[in-house]
Amino acid sequence: MNIKKRIVILISGRGSNMQALVKANIAQAEIVAVISNRAEAAGLQWATQHGLVTEAICHHDYPGREAFDAALIEHIDAYQPDLVVLAGFMRILTSEFCRHYTGKLINIHPSLLPAFTGLHTHQRALDSGCRVAGCTIHFVTPQLDCGPIIAQGVVPVLNGDTADTLAHRVLELEHQLLPQAVTDFVAGNLVIEGNRVNNLAAAGTDSAVCLKN
Ligand code: GRF
Repeated sequence: MNIKKRIVILISGRGSNMQALVKANIAQAEIVAVISNRAEAAGLQWATQHGLVTEAICHHDYPGREAFDAALIEHIDAYQPDLVVLAGFMRILTSEFCRHYTGKLINIHPSLLPAFTGLHTHQRALDSGCRVAGCTIHFVTPQLDCGPIIAQGVVPVLNGDTADTLAHRVLELEHQLLPQAVTDFVAGNLVIEGNRVNNLAAAGTDSAVCLKN
């Protein structure tokens, strides 16, 4: 019998990556909950409308980061997830949280890591004169945006690009890359070896995507 892997998705806003994951309808995956730290997140409404279990756990309701993360763990673990996906979850997580989900917590970051960890990645790529930009899916470790890389997607930086036009181009790629990474995870194809991920399905090369103009 093919038992589906249970996935919890964490979001904070529009949730377009979460939507891409839901629409991908991955055969071996079941999205068991979508949780947001903001009740007004547009993505939460979309998830509810599409019949998913949703929860809002507001960080303002807790005295600090540790207390919020501890509560978050409790809520997430009630769904017994095999994988937790940070899909635009705009909170820095405690080391305890990251360690609790070692090897089963992944994040999508809108830059070609290790360049431009943190915020404002597209503007920083433009300011640095980069000719390419992109996104990274990685396992989460306590150091921000630094865990083993599962996949990266590359787009060109075009003349006249603004942070918005670049973000839009990168986002299209995020929507392809995240479902692929989750598909690889649930198939058991991602093996963490130190800071590298050995993708048994991709033979090391086709987990990188390059879009041309
Ligand atoms: C994406 O660009 C993602 O890379 C970053 O936050 C953004 C979330 O967008 N972590 P959405 O909520 O998935 O539309």
